[in-house]
Amino acid sequence: MKTLPTLKFAGPLIDEETIADVADVLRSGQITSGPWVAAFERSLSEFCSGRPVRTLTSATAAVEVALQLAEIGAGNEVITCAQSFFTVLNMIVKVGATPVFVDCDLVTRNIDLGQVEARIGPRTRAIMPTHWPGSLVDMDSLHGLARRRGLRVIEDAALVIGSQWNGRNVGAFGDLVTFSFHPNKNITSIEGGALVVNNGTEATRVEVLRFHGIERLADGTRDVAFPGGKFNLPDVNARIGLAQLERLPQFLMRRRALVERYFQNFATEPACILPPAPHAGDGQSWNMFSILLPLAELAIDRKGFRDALAAKGIMTGVSYEALHLSALGRRFGYHRGDLPHTEQIADSTVTLPLHAAMAEPDVDRVCTACAEIIAAHRR
Ligand SMILES: Cc1ncc(COP(=O)(O)O)c(C=O)c1O
Repeated sequence: MKTLPTLKFAGPLIDEETIADVADVLRSGQITSGPWVAAFERSLSEFCSGRPVRTLTSATAAVEVALQLAEIGAGNEVITCAQSFFTVLNMIVKVGATPVFVDCDLVTRNIDLGQVEARIGPRTRAIMPTHWPGSLVDMDSLHGLARRRGLRVIEDAALVIGSQWNGRNVGAFGDLVTFSFHPNKNITSIEGGALVVNNGTEATRVEVLRFHGIERLADGTRDVAFPGGKFNLPDVNARIGLAQLERLPQFLMRRRALVERYFQNFATEPACILPPAPHAGDGQSWNMFSILLPLAELAIDRKGFRDALAAKGIMTGVSYEALHLSALGRRFGYHRGDLPHTEQIADSTVTLPLHAAMAEPDVDRVCTACAEIIAAHRR
């Protein structure tokens, strides 16, 4: 029997033209931050309706710098959702602030904004939600609440570049917005990230914060008043990011077609909880397709399910563990049972393969394998 190739759960699609463009950058001798970073930032800014955008070496760096830009540190609290990647927790703690976790919706996985107001206190400085593929956090409620209570908003948009709210791109409005260009995201610059800010003053401050905190003095020397990081994106990465941004619509179309196929196939597997179904004109992008397994109905645990898929050459991920139950999160007094939806997702979620290099038969292969494993282990 012919063995099928291993199906990765995520990955980039980089064309030969981009590879040749990178070779040109390498030959130019100008390989760290330079004209291609400027060009990538101009394109990102255009994508964000003219708002200033600065690139960094990762979304994690962008979140750290966003917190520093908002002058959030020791003694401050940031309200966030525990169903997200470690970046969110880590960077809040790294700048010296305290994470205040609230639960999420079980289906959209977005922060439950209804729980936020009750957690706002005198030390609260910001709300930091993560947008999930398939459904954005309600932007009108989020920004309305933040305006009313005088809070900054740092949108973690790592997963949703290309999603739209009422016809406007994520990043084109709001306060501070961060994107990731890790190879598993909608577009990549190998590693890389971006921070969308409100004005030129903030953009200049980001330039200082991402490069050692160095300020240039009139006499041609330099000074530092803040221990900045070293997060400037090299031109090699920016050249890839620029080429990828041009192809974003094409990548998103492919991802969406694959997700539609997933929904068609999972219609016969009603026990799994799926993300919100796509509908025409909803403006949503699809970076991941994560299901919740009906573990109570199965004589197999999540690891067993993932191992069974891996044995069929299908790789999967877990997005995400519950941040409040991590060793770091527990330091802030959280326990199992505090955030039931976050915990149910963390315990039962499996991220199935989804990337722009896939075709519909790949989705069919994944769904057939899932159905076989579920049928073989149903109690
Ligand atoms: C939701 C979310 N936020 C932030 C990040 C951090 O992105 P980066 O790897 O670019 O630092 C990730 C990475 O996977 C993520 O999934």
